[in-house]
Amino acid sequence: IGKSVHCFSEVDSTNNYAKTLAQKGCDDGTVVLAERQTQGRGRLGRSWDSTDKKGIWMSIVLRPAVGLEDVQIITLAASVAVASALKKAMDVNAGIKWPNDIVLDGKKVCGILTEMSMEMERVNYLVLGIGMNFSQQESEFPKEIRDRATSLGIYLKEKHGLDISGFRRSHLVKTILSELEEVYDTIKEGKVGVIIEEWKKYSVTLGKEVLINYKEEQYIGTAQDIDQNGRLIVRLSDGTVREVLSGEVSVRGL
Ligand code: ATP
Ligand code: BTN
Repeated sequence: IGKSVHCFSEVDSTNNYAKTLAQKGCDDGTVVLAERQTQGRGRLGRSWDSTDKKGIWMSIVLRPAVGLEDVQIITLAASVAVASALKKAMDVNAGIKWPNDIVLDGKKVCGILTEMSMEMERVNYLVLGIGMNFSQQESEFPKEIRDRATSLGIYLKEKHGLDISGFRRSHLVKTILSELEEVYDTIKEGKVGVIIEEWKKYSVTLGKEVLINYKEEQYIGTAQDIDQNGRLIVRLSDGTVREVLSGEVSVRGL
């Protein structure tokens, strides 16, 4: 991963650019980075605030030989890679909110958007889009998300009195990519259980009450576990158990 890296000062979305490369047949592990995105995208069709030079806006093309059922695991694995890179590169203890939000004291510091192309029931390619807030100050976030989003800079200052200027984005990028390579190899070796266990170590969702929003439907329950496919197992108050796929849901901790 990262043998070929395409860097830009501006693109619409690194995920879009990565898709174009993938369609032209680029190698497994090709990386796209941009200083700013004019149309950064989040999950569920939301927009992603991608301020110039203040974050890591990055996409990785993967070509795993898997079917649709394994895509969710790869996304969970990516969140594990990011959380462990934060620990290794910056000694930051981040949590993962199911399925793959990286959070610091309950606020979102990084999101992951996986997009894919299928061919004959197999994954043709995946684009893993990683958006990490690095050095924004609170006032630089749009008002609507100010109380829910954070950056490494805000966190390090508040928590440890450290200045983000003492850290390099490039070092964190490299560490994320090497951690990603490690979890990717683990998946290729078929050791999905290892990924699930790692994910659970970082989870801030399991054991909590959650509000699930799926299309028009809403329900509250306790997040009990995740299964081998990365689905969240939620027990409702009447005792029934639901398996939640990440695709179109949004989860709130209560
Ligand atoms: P999700 O289902 O993706 O977890 P959420 O609404 O539960 O969404 P929150 O952390 O509560 O997530 O809210 C943050 C909101 O701000 C999300 O909708 C997120 O997509 C959006 N957002 C846009 N840009 C950013 C950014 N740079 N950093 C963090 N959040 C962002
Ligand atoms: C989320 O909603 O949590 C996912 C956010 C993903 C943002 C990243 S930034 C790099 C890549 N390009 C995009 O347009 N989105 C992803």
